Amino acid sequence: MEVLERPPPPPPEANSFLIAPSILSADFANLQRELEAVAAAGADWIHVDVMDGHFVPNLTVGAPVVAALRKVTKLPLDVHLMIDKPERYMEDFLKAGSDIVTFHVEASLDPRSLLEKIRGRGKKSGISLRPATPVEVLLPLLPFADLVLVMTVEPGFGGQSFMNDQAAKIQRLRQEIGWRKLATLIEVDGGINAATKASCKDADVLVAGNFIFQHAQGYGPAIKELRGKTLPYG
Ligand code: DX5
Ligand code: ZN
Repeated sequence: MEVLERPPPPPPEANSFLIAPSILSADFANLQRELEAVAAAGADWIHVDVMDGHFVPNLTVGAPVVAALRKVTKLPLDVHLMIDKPERYMEDFLKAGSDIVTFHVEASLDPRSLLEKIRGRGKKSGISLRPATPVEVLLPLLPFADLVLVMTVEPGFGGQSFMNDQAAKIQRLRQEIGWRKLATLIEVDGGINAATKASCKDADVLVAGNFIFQHAQGYGPAIKELRGKTLPYG
């Protein structure tokens, strides 16, 4: 039974987030070293931001870089595709060793089929949305998604400020996932720091780029500051 193979949802009382450092803010000349350092610092997943210069006004990395990262880390690779027509490149990212592949609902011609394709390959399927897209667009897709990625900045660049008005989407998704008894995880991406995490308590996973990689005390203390759902020290 396929359903039974999926990990159970975290218990609702779980008091800590999974932390996924975004390598967009890492030293690109030393990615292996950076991955080893965040793994040693307690990172749960590695978040890889893929941008195509069309869906977003920035270019980053493609499937060959994901394949290279796969060889140097055991952590799950959480690949966030900010690309037009993600179906064109899905096979490449699956073959490259992505563990979770998330694409944007605005970019895909047939999001449900693409989510099913990812699952059919034994990988975790993720769907995301821009800040301007209403969360209702995602609701029919929830049964097909292992993860929903809520953007709290305009996708394209690291280091932007958290958009408070997006937090209501997290609560709405938590309600829906609860009512429908789904195992879909909620991940939040953009402008996450020790203060803005307070708006994300209904989420399961936090992505953070600048907060971790630019933290004055280093990666370990940065991840520790993000981990707990209880403020101010958790
Ligand atoms: C933005 C990316 C984010 C970004 C987060 O398009 O999807 O993952 O790197 O960076 P910070 O944490 O610096 O906002
Ligand atoms: Zn991202």
